Amino acid sequence: GLGFYTGEDGYMYCDNLRVDDIRQQVPESPFYLYSRERISANIAAYKAALAGLDHIIGYAVKANNNLKIMQHLCGLGSGAVLVSGNELQLAIKAGFDPSKTIFNGNGKLPAELELAVQHGVLINVDSEFDFANIAAAANKVGKTANVLLRINPDVDPQVHPYVSTGLASSKFGIRNSHLQWFLDAIKAEPRVELVGVHSHLGSTITKVNIFRDAANIMCDFIAKINAEGFQLKYLNIGGGLGIDYYHKGDILPTPTDLIDTVRDIVKASGLTLIIEPGRSMVATSSAFVNTVTGVKTNGSKHFIVVDGSMASLIRPSLYDAYQHIELTAPSSAEQKVFDIVGPVCESADFLGKERELNTPNAGDGLVVHDAGAYCMAMASTYNLKMRPAEYWVADGKLAKIRHQETLDDHIKLFDGL
Ligand code: LLP
Repeated sequence: GLGFYTGEDGYMYCDNLRVDDIRQQVPESPFYLYSRERISANIAAYKAALAGLDHIIGYAVKANNNLKIMQHLCGLGSGAVLVSGNELQLAIKAGFDPSKTIFNGNGKLPAELELAVQHGVLINVDSEFDFANIAAAANKVGKTANVLLRINPDVDPQVHPYVSTGLASSKFGIRNSHLQWFLDAIKAEPRVELVGVHSHLGSTITKVNIFRDAANIMCDFIAKINAEGFQLKYLNIGGGLGIDYYHKGDILPTPTDLIDTVRDIVKASGLTLIIEPGRSMVATSSAFVNTVTGVKTNGSKHFIVVDGSMASLIRPSLYDAYQHIELTAPSSAEQKVFDIVGPVCESADFLGKERELNTPNAGDGLVVHDAGAYCMAMASTYNLKMRPAEYWVADGKLAKIRHQETLDDHIKLFDGL
C-alpha cells in the first residue's frame, strides 16, 4: 500500500507501517505523519499529464513549507511558487532553480521584490502600484525583472468564497480595461521584461472545464499583447485542483484531466505552460495523528475530545472544511455520532462534526486525513499549543522531518526585553 489505508487486519497504515506502531515510537502527540512516496506519486502524476508539453511545475510552497518536503519535490524536478520573501529564501535554501520559480502576490513588499530580482525569479504583476514597486526594485538592484501579468479572468471556480480568487470582485489581478496601461508602462521601463500571463482561479476546484474558460480568456489577452510587439514565453494557469476530501468514492478530475482540458490551447499558443499546484501535490500525503483524551456526552450530543486542536489544524474551523476522520485501530465498541473536538477554549475548536465512529477509549489513536496541505502551514500556537512535530515514512522507515516547537522557543522571543 501507498499512503494511508486500512489494512486487512483493520488497522490504519502509512505505507508499510501501522500507524499504531508509529504512535508507540513517537514521543509527541499530536503529530503530522507523511508518506514520502505519496508525494512522489503525486508529482509523477503531474509529470505524466504534462508529457509532450513544454512546462514548469511550480509547487505552491504555501501549502506546506516543510524544508524536507520542499527538498524532496525540488529533487523530483519541481519549481516553486512563492508568496513572501521568507518563502523565497527557504526555496533557495531548499535548492529550487530560480528560473523555475515564480513570485506571486497582491502585496509584495519592496524588500521582497529586490530579493526576487536579485535571484532572477519570475514575478507576477498584480496591480499598478505593484508594477511601480517591481520597476523600482529592478532599477535598484540593476537587473532585469522578468514579469508575468496576473490576469483577473472573472471566472467562477464554484468553491468557498475564501478560496475563490479569479472573480472580478476579487482583490487579485488585472482586468481587461487596465491592460493597455501595463503594456505602455512596461514598454517605457527598460529593466522590466514582459514574459507571460498568469491567472489563478481559486482552490479546491473539482470542475476542470473552468481552466479552459480561463485559458481562452488569457489567449485574448495574449493576442492583444502580441499585437503590441511583445514576445511572450509563458502561459501560467495557476493551481487549484481539488482532492477527494470526502472519501466516498467520488471520481474527481486528475492532473491528466486538468492538463488535457487546456492541452490544445497551450499547443496552439506555442508557449511554455506553467502550473502552480499546492494542495494536489501534498494534501493526500499526510494524516494528523491524535490521541483520544476522553469521550463525553452533553444532552444528546456526543464528543470525542482529542489532544489536537484548531491551533494545529484550522481548516474545519475556518472554512467549515470536511476532512475525513478515522480511528487507527479496529473496534467493536458501540457506534455513535460524535463531534471531534480539541482542548482549545473556543466552540470553534473542532476537527470534525457529526461523524459516525466506534466509541474510542482514552489513549486510542484518531487521524484526520488529507492533512498535507494548508494544515501544518496554517498552524498557530494559540493557547500555547505548540506546533506539532512532523514525521514521514520514507524507504519503508519512519523519520522525523520537523521538531515540535517548544515552550522554550516561545520564551526565547522575550530574551533581553
Ligand atoms: N497559485 C496561487 C496564485 C495561489 O493563490 C494558490 C493558492 C496556489 C497557486 C495553490 O493552489 P492549490 O493548488 O493549493 O489549490 N488555505 C486554503 C487554501 C488557500 C489557497 C490560496 N492560494 C485551504 O486551506 O483550503
